[in-house]
Amino acid sequence: MSNSNKELRVSKIRDGTVIDHVSAGQALNVLAILGIDGSGGEGVSIGMNVPSDRLGNKDIVKVEGRELSQSEVDVLSVIAPEATINIVRDYEVVEKKRVERPDVVAGILSCPNRNCITTADEPVDTRFEVLSDGLRCAYCGTIVREDEVGSHLQVS
Ligand code: CTP
Ligand code: ZN
Repeated sequence: MSNSNKELRVSKIRDGTVIDHVSAGQALNVLAILGIDGSGGEGVSIGMNVPSDRLGNKDIVKVEGRELSQSEVDVLSVIAPEATINIVRDYEVVEKKRVERPDVVAGILSCPNRNCITTADEPVDTRFEVLSDGLRCAYCGTIVREDEVGSHLQVS
């Protein structure tokens, strides 16, 4: 019997989205990217540092009653490149897809450079080019490393 059958740490959901194989430690940033803070009333379950055959440890996020847009999925890829998005309807996984890295991320991250035009009084929407290990501000060239993404989310 596999490990997941012996011990189910987070209950199954009826309808919604399971974001599985999230890099360990990134679950709260996943919620921040999705704009979920609990005030919307949706059911949310989180597993952190759960043992995974593939990743050693992983996080898992289950959101009830909600399916994700493609742009949300694209942005998740920056902090959780191994994530699997499972759409669940009536308890069954009806669709499973891997995240894909987009070329550009718009409006989700803030630029850490205080002199960047995107942080001025009349802000311009941020725009970052996606690199293999981080993102580069399209306006000032400042690099946000992958492990820094969580602390530069506009929504957090
Ligand atoms: N899941 C859930 N609620 C359901 C169905 C599935 O929370 N009603 C969760 C499972 O617990 C699992 C994920 O969604 O974490 C994917 O389910 P499934 O495809 O059945 O599992 P695996 O085959 O183990 O997935 P993978 O091959 O992607 O690792
Ligand atoms: Zn900038």
